[in-house]
Amino acid sequence: MAPASVLAARNVNLTYGGLGGGARTVEALRDVNLEVPKGQFVALVGASGCGKTSLLNMFAGLVEPTEGEVVIDERPVQGASNKTSYMFARDGLLPWRRVHKNVELGLEARTRLSRAERLKRSREMLRMVGLADFEKAYPRQLSHGMRQRAAIARTLVTDPDILLMDEPFGALDAQTKLRLQSEFLDLLEQEGSDRVSKTVLFVTHDLNEAILLADRVVVMLPRPGRIASDQLVDLPRPRSGHLKEIIFSSEFQRLHRELFDLLEERGGDE
Ligand SMILES: Nc1ncnc2c1ncn2[C@@H]1O[C@H](COP(=O)(O)OP(=O)(O)OP(=O)(O)O)[C@@H](O)[C@H]1O
Ligand SMILES: [Mg+2]
Repeated sequence: MAPASVLAARNVNLTYGGLGGGARTVEALRDVNLEVPKGQFVALVGASGCGKTSLLNMFAGLVEPTEGEVVIDERPVQGASNKTSYMFARDGLLPWRRVHKNVELGLEARTRLSRAERLKRSREMLRMVGLADFEKAYPRQLSHGMRQRAAIARTLVTDPDILLMDEPFGALDAQTKLRLQSEFLDLLEQEGSDRVSKTVLFVTHDLNEAILLADRVVVMLPRPGRIASDQLVDLPRPRSGHLKEIIFSSEFQRLHRELFDLLEERGGDE
C-alpha cells in the first residue's frame, strides 16, 4: 500500500474574484492534484503567477479551494494548525520586537509555555541557526541573511510536523544562499536516515535550490496554474555539507537540464 499522504490537494480549482463589482476573475489553479507523504521534501517551481503561493496558502488555511479538497492528515484544512508552520516570502519579522521576541511569536500564539520556557526555546533555536549573539538585536540591525536565519528559527521553534515555505532564500547572494541551504538541511536531515524529519512544501524560483533540497520537484505552469511535471530527485542524504559536490554531479546536471527545458519551453514569465 502507498504511504498515507500528510498533505494532499485533490482535484483543486481556485478562482479569485468575480463576486459582484464586475471584477475580473482569475483562474489561479486548475485541476491540481498533489500528494505528499510523511517526511518528504517537495519543491514547487514555476513562473511567476502559476499559483505556488496560492497552493501554500490553501495548506495554511488562509485560502479555500473553489472546488476540490485540501487536506492535512486526511482532514480538510480549516484555519491555521499547530502542526504547520508557514514561512512567508518576505521574512515577516516584526521590526519593533527584538530577535528573540520575534522567534517566540509562534510559541506565544500556540502554547501556554511560561515566559522563561519560551525564552529558553528561542535561545536554543537561535543558537542552532548561528544567531546566539544577536538575540537582543532588532531586525533592522541584522543583514539580510541573518534576518532569514531568524525567520527560520521562528518557523522551527514550535517543532511543527509540516513546513510550508515560500521562497525563504530568495534575493540572497549566491554564497550566502548556499550556506543557508546547507544549514537548513542540517536542521532537517537525520543521522542514518534518507528522509528529512519533517514534511516540507517549499516554493522557489531557483531550480538549483529545488534539486539540492528536495526529494521531489513539482513544476507548475501558469494561466491557469497547473502541475506540469513531477520528478523524484535521486540524490542521497544527508546532503548538508556536500552541496558543492552535488551541484557538479551528473544526476544534478541531468535533472537541472530536464527541468530547465520544461520551464523554458512552456513557462515564461508574465
Ligand atoms: N488575493 C488575490 N486576489 C486575486 N487574484 C490573486 C490573489 N492572489 C493571487 N492572485 C492571482 O492568482 C494567480 C496566482 O498567484 P500566486 O501568488 O499564487 O502565484 P505565484 O506562483 O506564487 O507567483 P510568484 O512566483 O510571483 O510569487 C496570479 O495570477 C495572481 O495575480
Ligand atoms: Mg508567490
